[in-house]
Amino acid sequence: MQTQGPWWKRTTTYQIYPRSFSDANGDGIGDLRGVIDKLDYLQALGVETLWLSPFFQSPQADFGYDISDHYAIAAEYGSLTDVRELIDRVHARGMKIVLDMVLNHTSSAHPWFLASQRSRDAPMRDWYIWRDGKEPDGKAPPNNWRSMLGGSGWHYAPATGQWFFASFLGFQPDLNYRNPAVKTAMLDVVRHWLAAGIDGLRLDIFNAIFKDESFADNPFSWRPAPSESNPHGFFQRHVHTIDHPDTLAFARELRAVVDGFTDPPRFLVGEVFGNAETLKRYCGEAADGLHLVFLFETLSARLRGHAVREMIRGFEDAFPEPFSPTFVLGNHDRPRSIHRVKGDRERAKLLAALQLTVRGVPFIYYGEEIGMPNHDMPLHEGLDPVAARFRLIPQWMVGWFRRRGILLNRDECRSPMLWNAARNAGFAPDKATPWLPIHPDSPATNVAAQAAHPDSLLWCYRHLLALRRAEPALQDGALSWLEMPTLPDDVVAYRRSLAGVADHAVDVFLNFSNREVALDLHAYAGRSCYATRRGEHGPVPNARALGAWEAMIIFDAETAQKHEGPGVSSEAFADSLDG
Ligand code: GLC
Repeated sequence: MQTQGPWWKRTTTYQIYPRSFSDANGDGIGDLRGVIDKLDYLQALGVETLWLSPFFQSPQADFGYDISDHYAIAAEYGSLTDVRELIDRVHARGMKIVLDMVLNHTSSAHPWFLASQRSRDAPMRDWYIWRDGKEPDGKAPPNNWRSMLGGSGWHYAPATGQWFFASFLGFQPDLNYRNPAVKTAMLDVVRHWLAAGIDGLRLDIFNAIFKDESFADNPFSWRPAPSESNPHGFFQRHVHTIDHPDTLAFARELRAVVDGFTDPPRFLVGEVFGNAETLKRYCGEAADGLHLVFLFETLSARLRGHAVREMIRGFEDAFPEPFSPTFVLGNHDRPRSIHRVKGDRERAKLLAALQLTVRGVPFIYYGEEIGMPNHDMPLHEGLDPVAARFRLIPQWMVGWFRRRGILLNRDECRSPMLWNAARNAGFAPDKATPWLPIHPDSPATNVAAQAAHPDSLLWCYRHLLALRRAEPALQDGALSWLEMPTLPDDVVAYRRSLAGVADHAVDVFLNFSNREVALDLHAYAGRSCYATRRGEHGPVPNARALGAWEAMIIFDAETAQKHEGPGVSSEAFADSLDG
């Protein structure tokens, strides 16, 4: 008999970018109180684990990914009391909460860096990576290492005549993990928040933690830009700056720390880049590394039957039990997923059905559930420091990067959540000025409007999430292919089953084509189904065509009962929005 895995393998995760989710105090910036106000909604939507982008003390030069005090909360987001209340209230609902931890670097305004930059023999000098420049006068960077955004990763500090290294932007200096004091300090931060009751950590650019001690040049590469499956680019293979064996060892060390917290168990999900084989190494051969890693291939895979099957196959091969894949359609750095399907909500439903029925932990980015669009904004107006970094490049290049899934102005995917049709879309009080403009589609695309329409994308997410909660096989059951020779290649069909726990399986049909496909459903007599196009659910009919870009999920009557129970009643959903 197959038993179910730990909770973090079975959960569904929802990413909140706190600055843009809900502004309770009317300063135009989302805050922790705002998140607390929306817990009714999130619970009614049916997500189980919340991941919050960083809200720690920070100059906000990279909107929180530049931390200046890991133990304090940025005043614009609230206070430590708010965090405690948020953790408690999330737990009181049986939900979980995951924080975003930036281990690789700090803000240049962090007291550690301020102390480190003071002089060459400052006591904290070796908390960061300082080197002499190249001879004869040291005015050229120590080696050719590039930042992840292109350009040299080295930054000259005239006060001491040395260079420091930053994997991302110059105000985010990399910590020196070869100094044991740094490691101890950062592991203390991790322990502190785990002890405060959080359920896991999302680890920011975890692949960059250790750099090679040789400081040898990175080799040349013809690759102009990185991609989902290959992080090398900007004409360099970053062999000495990412995926270092010591980083993999550190993943295991971190795992041991996290495993010290057992009630409940906690988990780590790493932001790392590369092909499945590279990513898998972060989980440890003996499953003793990071619990999960993001598999960003889902962001760029072609949406055709063959390509989707290949992607799933790749994940299944690389992450067999006890490992688990993840499934991401968007995040705070990437173009919003609705653009993958040219704004077509039916196709967005199909993607949601794939994400929520395939084997792997789903990560939903806020607003995805209503098909929130990117908010096109000129590069030079971007508040995002990456936009500032690239502001002089020509427009065609912006498009070139975007087609590769790289957003140069990440403000576009971070615009405020669209709750309703009010002036500020319910994100902030009407008289407030939101930190980023409200998307002009807000009167048509918002939570309240879709909540009133049972065939909306939002309702589709609710149904799928409810199904996943009701059906153990969908949580961490095995995946096998449905061999049906009559099905066209563009229909992806698989079964999820969990032997022994409940004697049933769930069959999933996903039509990645413009054509209707006749399905013979005789074998499913007596079972129930949910189909995305019109949000139909009920007994399986004898015959039914699978519409263009439609998903159909077939399960047994017991699951159907749970699925159609109070969890998805429209009254409960409407009430949750009043919160
Ligand atoms: C990660 C984050 C991104 C941030 C960067 C630097 O890629 O997702 O938002 O800017 O790391 O911390």
